[in-house]
Amino acid sequence: MGATRVLIIILTLALPTLLFILLFKQSLDVDISPWPSNRQMRRALIEALPDSVQAQGEIWDLGSGWGGLVQCLAEKYPQSQVIGVELSWIPWLMSQLYNRLSSQKNITIRRENFYDTSLSHASLVVCYLFPGAMESLRSKFKSELPPDSWVASITFEIPGWHPERVVEIGEVRRLTIYLYRLSSQD
Ligand SMILES: C[S@@+](CC[C@H](N)C(=O)[O-])C[C@H]1O[C@@H](n2cnc3c(N)ncnc32)[C@H](O)[C@@H]1O
Repeated sequence: MGATRVLIIILTLALPTLLFILLFKQSLDVDISPWPSNRQMRRALIEALPDSVQAQGEIWDLGSGWGGLVQCLAEKYPQSQVIGVELSWIPWLMSQLYNRLSSQKNITIRRENFYDTSLSHASLVVCYLFPGAMESLRSKFKSELPPDSWVASITFEIPGWHPERVVEIGEVRRLTIYLYRLSSQD
């Protein structure tokens, strides 16, 4: 076997392994994998969201992963700017590519830590995260979000907040969507 062939085999095996290690390490850093919301979750979320947020301000997906949910939000709210924030390199890169190929022109994807992002112009924030993140984000939402804004969370509640709507779907695997209005919180 020639040296070139050995090099090609090593690279073919090494590149996916390196990408996997990077993805795994970054998932550990942010306490969650970039596992995306599925079609059923997205459909239920999009139906539950109020039409009235349209054109009032920015729409954010905190932890936008591979960018699929951002596309659905951009389709529902074509007059609004939809912003995805993702810290993990590989999902962020793939979502940038997805965005370039998409016909939606109202999307921005940022590679940032969402705890460092100002939400002061948001009209709607969407999350599919984990319990600890919802707890940490609660005070950020309270101090930064405009009074008439909305927060939607797939699966995980914001502890201590009162949802405006709770949507439950799925017979075998139950799925809950929580919709909060900032003005209804203490
Ligand atoms: C379960 S995935 C959800 C992806 C997407 N929102 C969806 O519904 O398909 C959560 C994402 O949040 C990202 N994430 C977690 N903490 C973050 C942080 N502090 N800043 C930015 N992204 C973060 C993770 O890297 C992961 O890709």
